[in-house]
Amino acid sequence: MSLLLEAKNYRDNFRKELANLNITKNSVEELRIKYLGKKGILNRLFQGFGSLQPEERKEFGQIVNSFKNDLNVQFEVLQNKLSEQEVSKDFFDYSLPGKKPETGYMHPISQTMREISKIFREMGFDIEYGPEVETDYYNFQALNFPDNHPARDMQDTFFINNDILLRTHTSPIQVRTMQSQKPPIRILAPGRVFRNEAISARSHCIFHQIEGLYIDENVTFSELKTTLDIFAKRYFGSKVKLRFRPSYFPFTEPSAEVDITCFICNGKGCNVCKKTGWLEILGCGMVDPNVLEASGIDSEKYSGYAFGMGPDRITMLKYGITDIRMFFEGDIRFLQQFK
Ligand code: PHE
Repeated sequence: MSLLLEAKNYRDNFRKELANLNITKNSVEELRIKYLGKKGILNRLFQGFGSLQPEERKEFGQIVNSFKNDLNVQFEVLQNKLSEQEVSKDFFDYSLPGKKPETGYMHPISQTMREISKIFREMGFDIEYGPEVETDYYNFQALNFPDNHPARDMQDTFFINNDILLRTHTSPIQVRTMQSQKPPIRILAPGRVFRNEAISARSHCIFHQIEGLYIDENVTFSELKTTLDIFAKRYFGSKVKLRFRPSYFPFTEPSAEVDITCFICNGKGCNVCKKTGWLEILGCGMVDPNVLEASGIDSEKYSGYAFGMGPDRITMLKYGITDIRMFFEGDIRFLQQFK
């Protein structure tokens, strides 16, 4: 191919490349080196000038010179486009509406615990907290679980060593309160508890409890029943009925488990209450005199009641949640439903 023809081809090709160029710093620089670089196309054309026949030189000179001008103009245009891009990157439109930052909201179990706490606070209960890492003494010994007592097997325990464990219930807060306050004592103790159980849809190794404790002179079982009745009616609805079933806890005597009429089917029987019409919601009883004495409270003068309930289960029943693991997975799609 003659050099003249080559020059014309390059000129046409440049226009095509320019039309298809995706303008970035790199692509413009690459193109510039290709045409205007030291070893670029334009210089190679100029170098060929000497080898041309004299009659070709005029036309060739015109083509290459106008090509050179065109290249210079087009690269200036490209440079301008690039600096415009730079500017628009930093451009901030102050008239745009703002973006709302995502705000957090309370976990459904925390919501349940607050609602329950509020009802008891209005009945005169103070809120108390205790450590999640406990000693055997507070979790068991002082609650009338003697060493090697089979009742310890009721609660599969995570032991850290022989003496230190993750609390299996909120009842150690009863002991800590009895040792630090004088009767009358009326407290509610919400918190996290831990049990060494296989994780499944129905049980988890981490869950929550809300403990209640009332100690004064002449506290009776009927006061316990009334308090729980008022609570259940306020929380679950005024039609709810309570049923006390005899039970056993080492730290209460007598002890009971409390069922409420199913608030889904009003006691008629449905899938949630497994056709029984009843839902178990808590354990309770009169504080065992041994427990009072172990914490230095005169069991001749004082008596008291205690109860413990599970807000995880209550939240599951309330919202029809069938898998307890959902509470602990932090899945935003699940949690956002409780905004
Ligand atoms: N601590 C008991 C449990 O975890 C519940 C309970 C609390 C029972 C207070 C009676 C009184 O099973």
